[in-house]
Amino acid sequence: MLKSDRPYVTVVLAMSADGKIADAWRSPARFGSAQDKSHLETQISQADGVLFGAGTLRAYGSTLRVTHSDLLQQRQQQGKPPQPVHIVCSQSAQLDPNSVFFRQSVPRWLLTTVVQVDEQMPFERVITVGKGETGLDWVDALQQFRRLGLEQLVVTGGGEVVASLLGVGGIDEVWLTVCPLLLGGRDAPTPVGGTGILEGMAPRLALLGVEAIGQEVFLHYRVL
Ligand SMILES: NC(=O)c1ccc[n+]([C@@H]2O[C@H](COP(=O)([O-])OP(=O)(O)OC[C@H]3O[C@@H](n4cnc5c(N)ncnc54)[C@H](OP(=O)(O)O)[C@@H]3O)[C@@H](O)[C@H]2O)c1
Repeated sequence: MLKSDRPYVTVVLAMSADGKIADAWRSPARFGSAQDKSHLETQISQADGVLFGAGTLRAYGSTLRVTHSDLLQQRQQQGKPPQPVHIVCSQSAQLDPNSVFFRQSVPRWLLTTVVQVDEQMPFERVITVGKGETGLDWVDALQQFRRLGLEQLVVTGGGEVVASLLGVGGIDEVWLTVCPLLLGGRDAPTPVGGTGILEGMAPRLALLGVEAIGQEVFLHYRVL
């Protein structure tokens, strides 16, 4: 897949010091500081689209909107709508229509393989792709996003979506916030889920920046 055929994709995640993005019960991860939340909001404010897995939506029930006045003003100056499009990826399309997400004032898209989607869920657009080796056809999905005008895509989790995108060479940058706690648990999700990658085949990263703010470390990588 040519890079010009897909959006520029940036993953933004917070993890514990032992590399978990949530506890073993997949609770909604709320261990990032206010600084980390503001970092995530800044990244989202620069995007045309925000992509997350159904697992992430089921955990939080909502998505992070751009609310800071400076960021809203910046988007306006750039001729962008106030909120990027929020895209849920769900192969099953089994989501809770009563979740807060469906009442938030953001444009909502669904990425799925299902043709008939419950009409109770107010999606502005349903993007249907075929089934692929890693659940769904991610190459087609990314190409459709690009054709629909998404140039910058931020992925906010979880580990399964990140693993799928990595599998098709669909990630350009990764932000990881290392937070001061230890979660443990062999079943706790990590930034990259899936079945794992042999060390020799592992995508390599270049460190673009590192900053310690308060008790957290903000790591910024480019995928080589
Ligand atoms: N610390 C952080 O920054 C952070 C950020 C986000 C999430 N989290 C945590 O991560 C956990 C959720 O992450 P997760 O890794 O379990 O789930 P996830 O990646 O958010 O979502 C997994 C679901 O997304 C759909 N999906 C993902 N990849 C797919 C593929 N290749 N093909 C088809 N469908 C696909 C499937 O939905 P269906 O089952 O509907 O088909 C799958 O069950 C929660 O505990 C949350 O708190 C943490």
